[in-house]
Amino acid sequence: MTSLPVTQSKVNYTAWPDEAGHFGPYGGKFVPETLMPALDELEEVYLKAKHDKEFQAELDHLLRTFVGRPTPLTYARRLTEYFGGPRIYIKREDLAHTGAHKINNALGQALLMKRKMQKTRIVAETGAGQHGVATATAAAMLGIECVVYMGTVDMARQEPNVYRMRLLGAEVRGVDSGSKTLKDAINEAIRDWVTNVRNTHYLLGSALGPHPYPTIVRDFQSVIGREALRQMLDPETGPGRLPDAIVACVGGGSNAIGIFHPFLEYEHVRLIGVEAGGRGIEGGEHAARFADPKLGRLGVLQGTKSYVLQDEDGQIALTHSISAGLDYASVGPEHAWLRDLGRTEYTYATDDEALEGVRLLSRLEGIIPALESAHAVAHLVKLAPQMSKDEVILVNLSGRGDKDLGTIMKELGAL
Ligand SMILES: Cc1ncc(COP(=O)(O)O)c(C=O)c1O
Repeated sequence: MTSLPVTQSKVNYTAWPDEAGHFGPYGGKFVPETLMPALDELEEVYLKAKHDKEFQAELDHLLRTFVGRPTPLTYARRLTEYFGGPRIYIKREDLAHTGAHKINNALGQALLMKRKMQKTRIVAETGAGQHGVATATAAAMLGIECVVYMGTVDMARQEPNVYRMRLLGAEVRGVDSGSKTLKDAINEAIRDWVTNVRNTHYLLGSALGPHPYPTIVRDFQSVIGREALRQMLDPETGPGRLPDAIVACVGGGSNAIGIFHPFLEYEHVRLIGVEAGGRGIEGGEHAARFADPKLGRLGVLQGTKSYVLQDEDGQIALTHSISAGLDYASVGPEHAWLRDLGRTEYTYATDDEALEGVRLLSRLEGIIPALESAHAVAHLVKLAPQMSKDEVILVNLSGRGDKDLGTIMKELGAL
């Protein structure tokens, strides 16, 4: 295996968050008093488990034998030839059990609850349904009662996942308030948690929410980046070198922070997050928190301080994306901080560009991506022509497209 280049990093990126859960001015804990003991307990239990060899060995075993890790790294030969530029590699989270990266975190937290907490019930929220399916799956395997909240708009556009959750034994509760999407599902899950906090763990699905969730989710998802780093450096499994750029879609930000984190210290590796540009930034129908200077500002949403899409009065803006998993008004606090530090960059892909991403990857590589992941693929159209043949791009393919076939068929029509 190629040895790693000496790190150029002047900043210790792994030092965050601070003890109060702040990433610079972002993060923290903005919750009702009743939830503070539950968050404190979760933090204490998690920190112990992080250094508990037995717990880590059991998680590792389940990741290998149940989830199917390590997921492969695939060289995208035809996509590379199509762009005629840098070599493109794909980290295949679509091949993880249940079809997306969400299982890494769901299994980690469910195991934490089962082994280390006196709780018997899980509540979760879901947007695209992938986190709900992953949570229902982990709960079924570990024998835990599970309730998943989902906006009714998302239930309609991700119908197969609703059925999958129910088949796995979870109760799916539809949320009919607000925009009937992820934000509203999180509100209901938090309400349930406040009411039943004694026996219930809230299994949050992205690098969001009050401390310690952004850290816990990042750590459980960092398995993606650790594997990718090894696979890239090994000439048997990858190019035998670090990539020049890594591209990942950003909803709440868990698949992106998961692949970025182990690469943070290699400063020359560009880390690019792709948000949902929806119908375009101008009209405000999108979920691009960093790209819209009119709507995207510092704010507090669902327990954490970060960039939030809001109107002039601070009311949370309605968001739009073709992909349910990116359709959220805020973004994980660590992303906001890394962006301020200049370590990560963010751009967006529109709905139409994402659909083009679906078509490209399906036809050229035989991989039908999730609509969320297709945003990362779409960015290659802009990025690849700016790079040379000597360079390497790594794309995190967060999930597979089966769940989106209904939407894709409606949008692309007869082929
Ligand atoms: C396949 C897939 N990719 C990406 C996301 C976005 O979430 P995150 O930004 O937390 O990775 C989701 C969310 O449901 C998803 O299902």
